[in-house]
Parts: sequence; C-alpha cells; structure tokens
Amino acid sequence: MQEVLKIEGKHLLKGSVKISGSKNATVALIPAAILADSPVTILGVPNISDVGYLGELLEALNVRFTQVGDDQLIIDPSAITNITLDHPGVQKLRASYYFMGALLGRFKNVSMKMPGGCYLGPRPIDLHLKGFEALGATVDFKQGTYHISATQLIGAKIYLDIASVGATINIMMAAIHALGRTTIENAAKEPEIIDVANMLNKMGAQIRGAGTNVITIDGVMNLHGCTHEIIPDRIEAGTFIIMAAAAAEEVTVENIIPQHLESLLSKLQEMGVELKVGLDNVIIRRASNLKPVDIKTLSYPGFATDLQQPMTPLLTQANGKSTIIETVYVERFKHCQELQRMGADIDLIPATAFINGPSVLYGDKVTATDLRCGAALVVAGLIAEGITEIHDVYHIDRGYDNIDQKLKNLGANIWRETVE
Ligand code: EPZ
Repeated sequence: MQEVLKIEGKHLLKGSVKISGSKNATVALIPAAILADSPVTILGVPNISDVGYLGELLEALNVRFTQVGDDQLIIDPSAITNITLDHPGVQKLRASYYFMGALLGRFKNVSMKMPGGCYLGPRPIDLHLKGFEALGATVDFKQGTYHISATQLIGAKIYLDIASVGATINIMMAAIHALGRTTIENAAKEPEIIDVANMLNKMGAQIRGAGTNVITIDGVMNLHGCTHEIIPDRIEAGTFIIMAAAAAEEVTVENIIPQHLESLLSKLQEMGVELKVGLDNVIIRRASNLKPVDIKTLSYPGFATDLQQPMTPLLTQANGKSTIIETVYVERFKHCQELQRMGADIDLIPATAFINGPSVLYGDKVTATDLRCGAALVVAGLIAEGITEIHDVYHIDRGYDNIDQKLKNLGANIWRETVE
C-alpha cells in the first residue's frame, strides 16, 4: 500500500496562500542551534518531514527539543553528547551534513555517516571537507563514516572553487570558535546563508558579509541562546507563483520577500504573466497567451535551479520553443520523462531541455523522482485534462508544508488516496 496525491485538472485557482518558513534555512538553523550553550527558539518552522528527520538526529545527540504550537521549536543543547552520528536519519537528507560543521565547531571533532538526500546527480562534499582541513582539522573516511577532528581550529582564508551553499554554511559554523579570523571567498550569496548568519550573530557570533561573496568569521569563546524567525521559503513561494501563472483566475501569494524572487518574477513578466508585486506579496493572474523564454540556472541571485523543474510544465503552455540550461545539477531533468508521459513535447540534450509548446497535458500515473520533480508534477496536474496520480509523494512532503491543503484552499481539486 502507498499514498498517492491525486489532482483533477482545469480548476481555476482563486484566493490567497501564506508561504511557510524556508526549508533550506530551517535545515541549517536546526543544526546551528546546537552551537549555543542555552536554549534557542526558532519561529516559523515549516511542517515538513525534513524537520522530523533532523529532530531524530538531535535526539541521538541528547539535545532536547520541544515543538510549541505548529511552527515553533525550542532547542536546548545544554546536555548535548557528541556521539558518532550513524543514525538512519543521516541518510534521509543531504542537509544532515550541517551537523559536521556544527559539531566540529563546538567540540573540535565529529564522526558521522555520509549524508543522503534527493538524487540530482553526483553531490560531493569535497568543498566542505577542504574548508574543515583549511581550519586545521584532519578528515578520515572509514566504512562509510567521516571522522573529522582538530586539536585547535585556527582561522584561515578559504577560497571556494564553486559558490556552494552547503559548504559556505558548514564552514561558517566550523569556524565559529576558531582562533582568529576566517575568510570565505567566492562564498554563496543565497538568502538562507544570511538567515543562518543572522541567527548565529544573535547567539554572539561575529560574522560579516553574509549575502556577499566574501564572508568573515571572527572566532568567539561561546554562544548563548536566542530567538530567531525563519525567512519565508522563496522556493515554495516561487512554486505557488508558477502554479498561479498556470492556473489562477487571481491568486495572492503572501508572506514573501519579493527581492528573493526577482529572477523568477522577471522571467514570468517576459512570458506575459500579469503580476502585481507588493511589499510582502504578489498577485498573479494566469495569462492566456504565454511567450516562450530561455532560462539558465545560476546560483543566487540567478534563476534558482530548484525552480527550473516546477517551471517546466508552465513552459509547455507557451506558444513556441523555450529552453532551460541547467548549470548547477546537470542531471536535474528526471521530471521531463514524467511530463512527456502527460503529453509534454520536450527534447533533452545534456544539461539542456528544449520545451515546445503549447501542448495539451493529460492526467496520468506519474512518479515524483525528487522533491522539485514532485512540485513540477503538481503544477502539471493543475492544468492537465483529467486526473493525475502522483506516486512517491513523500518526496514532496520533505519540502512543502501542507501543499495539498494550501491548494484545496485555493480551489484545486486535490486529494490523497492509499493505493496498492
Ligand atoms: C542547496 O544544496 C539546496 N539544499 C539545494 O536545494 C539547492 O538546489 C542548492 O543549494 C543550489 O542552490 C539545501 O539548502 C538543503 P551546493 P547544496 O553545495 O548546498 C557542487 C532543494 O530542492 N558541489 O550549492 O547541496 C554540487 O554538486 C534542494 O531544496 C561540489 O562540487 O548545493 C552542485 O553542482 C535541492 N562540492 C553545486 O556545487 C561540494 O563540496 C552547488 O551545490 C559542494 C557542492
């Protein structure tokens, strides 16, 4: 038996939807909280399964955490024990690797298994390890477990060959108590990095430059608890904006930071989508005549790789040929074969998708191969003729907080069923 998500297409969306806290900030903030010597309260925590998996790892480390209401977490690391993290939860998400930087930063040593997560092609962590070694740690890898330790962590100048989000955040945490100054050059500039730096600075850290490509961290003796509210999820927001562009009579997407979505909003305007951007919301009406566009994914503030998949079904409705060039995860096209099953006309060559439109999409049985593929199939289901049945819906629940309830409130005909 398994749970599937079913959508009957062609119901216009109407009303407003409130975006939840950022998954990609949350999965870094929770491990970062263990750097404090007293409780950390995090507000705006999204209801996603990744938070549950991280909770299992906190428990394994004897870090008490309590859920207050439906979006607050109180994390108390005062009795933390630095055991080897070989809990099965480590394999459930890639972001479990943030415990490497946090435990190394706090205890100068960490042992943990390889992280897991969506298959988007090879996802090495060489840049993270290179950063830890630059700070004076030694890295051993035995029987699938990393052992990273240092007698003393010393501030260093670290150049990232790729502006990696994970490596930037992990090195920031590992350097938090290092002696002297650490400089990360070619740092990633994603908003989630700023959010983590803001919380660490509230805890007493000395981090400057987050959001630019040079971040400095001056080591401090200890960090105290704080209260921090997570920024809204720009990828969830982008996904709902794309859904609205595809199927809305009129939808208001609320609790967003529009500047985090500039690349998407400008692409949608280029396509002829009607958008009214407010201070913390955007009002969207679907466009009957969509123009094709060319998209190239880049690290922030470029077009987010996480949004190229949900964007693909919208491009199948444009009048002409669109292209998507993927420069971050060159294999991130598994959603295309599922969309082709629904009638999409997509040609793939390495790292590029050519999407010919407009094509009529038909509901079918499809499979979410990863989180954002799942999102793409929901977008497709909203505009397809008939009923779409999405399998492996657990991928979607990892990163979207109550996506079906939010869509139901907008008038979509979407429900879950248990099937053989
Ligand atoms: C983060 O992954 C996000 N995940 C991803 O979102 C997002 O797609 C990605 O950043 C890019 O924006 C989280 O924040 C939890 P990277 P991360 O390190 O940190 C290569 C989603 O759907 N690389 O910036 O793992 C890597 O292979 C997820 O929410 C190395 O070569 O991404 C990739 O090609 C999917 N060596 C590129 O850099 C390293 O040590 C960017 O990866 C690290 C990365």
